[in-house]
Amino acid sequence: MGGKPVYHLNLTEEEIKGAKYAFLPGDPARVPLIAKAFDLNSKELVFKREYRTWLGQMEGTSVLVTSTGIGGGSTSIAVEELAMIGVKVFLRVGTTGAIQDKIKTGDIVITTGSVRLDGASVHYAPIEYPAVSDHNIASTLVRAAEEEGVRYWVGITASSATFYPGEEREDSYSGYVINRLKGSLEEWRRLRVLNYEMESSTLFVACSALGLRAGCVTGVIGERSQSEEVDSSKLLRVIEPTIRVAVRAMKLLIREDLLSTNLD
Ligand code: URA
Repeated sequence: MGGKPVYHLNLTEEEIKGAKYAFLPGDPARVPLIAKAFDLNSKELVFKREYRTWLGQMEGTSVLVTSTGIGGGSTSIAVEELAMIGVKVFLRVGTTGAIQDKIKTGDIVITTGSVRLDGASVHYAPIEYPAVSDHNIASTLVRAAEEEGVRYWVGITASSATFYPGEEREDSYSGYVINRLKGSLEEWRRLRVLNYEMESSTLFVACSALGLRAGCVTGVIGERSQSEEVDSSKLLRVIEPTIRVAVRAMKLLIREDLLSTNLD
């Protein structure tokens, strides 16, 4: 790539100082929170459109935090352009709406695989191709959640292209959900899907297809069996333990990679 910045993220290979690891929150406002959670001296590199990137150091290694914006299209751009400048490991740190009664606000969900309800992942691989986490990242997230004492659930996530109709919400402008999607929430619940979010399926399919490693941890901010409300006043309380788990998992992964040849 040389010194030329990648188009949307506006970052160069030189600027990221050899970073091979990136946290991927959706929200640009969450980028400094994550970066400062592992390195108080971390710094912003660039903020363009929905893509905000900070650089810090963890275990003697450069680590990025880059926001993806919402949804598969913008996530695919973040993954592509970070990979072009050398990033190999991607850890999504997001928020989610639970669809199983047992999962409560403040819990976290570690996604092992995603239902491909997005529109972007079919541009990487046909729909029969699975959207799965790197298994080692998923199990490292489990270990991190145990060590941090955060209540967690492990399993399948429905990853939707849209927040309103795709997650069968009636709290939308029209209140109408097309026939094809009516009853879909209940069907996913019956099929033991844990939660809804909007980026993991694109992330997993793109990374598997491109030979990159990806994982996903999300904090529960809505309980869809109770209501359609997403309580933004609880956001910080939910995102704090999610970030703690993600940061601990990243440290464990880096330590493990330093002892092996995983990134060769
Ligand atoms: N993100 C989603 O996609 N859905 C929710 O309910 C909460 C966060």
